[in-house]
Amino acid sequence: MSTYHINLHEAIYSLSDALDLVGVTHIHHGKRVAYMAAECGKRMGWQGQGLDDLFQAAILHDCGVSKTVVHSRLLQFEWELESGHCQIGADLLDSCALTSNISPFVRYHHTHWEELKDMDLPMQVKLSANCIFMVDRVDVLSLASLVDQSNLLLGREHICEKILEKRGIWFCPELVDAFIELSRSEAFWLTLENEHLDGYVSVWLAETPVKAMSFEELRSIVGIFSYIVDAKSSFTKDHSDGVARLARYLGELMGLAETSCEMLELAGLLHDIGKLRQPDELLDKPGKLTDEEYLRIKRHSFDTYSILRNIKGLEQITQWAALHHERVDGSGYPYHLGQGGLPLEARIVAVADMFQALAQNRPYRAAMQPDAIMQELRMQAAEGKIDGGVLDYISDNLDACWQQAVHAGVAEKSLRPASP
Ligand SMILES: [Fe+2]
Ligand SMILES: [Fe+2]
Ligand SMILES: [Fe+2]
Repeated sequence: MSTYHINLHEAIYSLSDALDLVGVTHIHHGKRVAYMAAECGKRMGWQGQGLDDLFQAAILHDCGVSKTVVHSRLLQFEWELESGHCQIGADLLDSCALTSNISPFVRYHHTHWEELKDMDLPMQVKLSANCIFMVDRVDVLSLASLVDQSNLLLGREHICEKILEKRGIWFCPELVDAFIELSRSEAFWLTLENEHLDGYVSVWLAETPVKAMSFEELRSIVGIFSYIVDAKSSFTKDHSDGVARLARYLGELMGLAETSCEMLELAGLLHDIGKLRQPDELLDKPGKLTDEEYLRIKRHSFDTYSILRNIKGLEQITQWAALHHERVDGSGYPYHLGQGGLPLEARIVAVADMFQALAQNRPYRAAMQPDAIMQELRMQAAEGKIDGGVLDYISDNLDACWQQAVHAGVAEKSLRPASP
């Protein structure tokens, strides 16, 4: 098994970037919450690993939210039915050895202090979770007063009043006091502007060394990305997992090196991460898409590229993932690369993606059976869209390929709660 050299902060940052897209109109929520949580933590005298864990948990705190509709509900200050996404997010982070330590921060990030303070948890967990809760609500309030950036300074008194009203009830009194002290500084609010926020987060990114990871470790963090995107629509449940398994299986059938097979699995898991930017109703639309909607959907493979491009060590996987809608005759998108520009692995992911999608129900058609899928794919190969050589391996192993594509992920996913 290979070793991968990845900067964990870069991977977490990219995941948060992808999650930010779920907001559609309210982007950078995770980054703003992480910045404010870290500043409050410093004010509380926290430092070192504890502060870093707080930042990681805060930037990922909404990883249980894939649907734009759930995200918009969370923008109401007093929305009380939000615990579903806390549990989903915590379970997801718990499923990965590299993030399991921050799982409880996310689990309790909407629990009121009145209740949380007596729970049987380490004090640092309670305080970190409550810190995320408080600044999450600050961000929601700031969004309401943010018509332009100067309004944020005008609105800060109102924000502080609302937070003070919940002192000792929703929020730990010491955390509220730390926040109120911070809020006196204009610089605290001005750093919430996008360009300053980016600068703040870049410093955090630069602070982590590259970490040597096993395939299993990298797969578990990549699995968080794929779970979130698959949970976005009931139609695409397990799609990325199915594509990943089929792509890897095809690589094995074709005799590719073990590292390439592992990387094919990772590319399959990540290929549709750009779909997080799509509004739910577009992915679930039962009828034909309008031209405008189709153009919007088509940008997802480019968004996959832009989300993953900053993770050093993942360049090749990013390329294979982002090229999954390219076609051998150059008619695909977004780069219009033809056969010459498409690595074999990208052609494998493209075929696996098509096969798995045809094997699933879609809002506009029912799932197709293996023979019908083969017929459709042969037509695509005859038209020069997909690689006929790759397809030959499917046709020689049709049942096994079907199993890989359709039964993927059953055991693993059953451990996790249903999506909201
Ligand atoms: Fe949030
Ligand atoms: Fe796609
Ligand atoms: Fe896909």
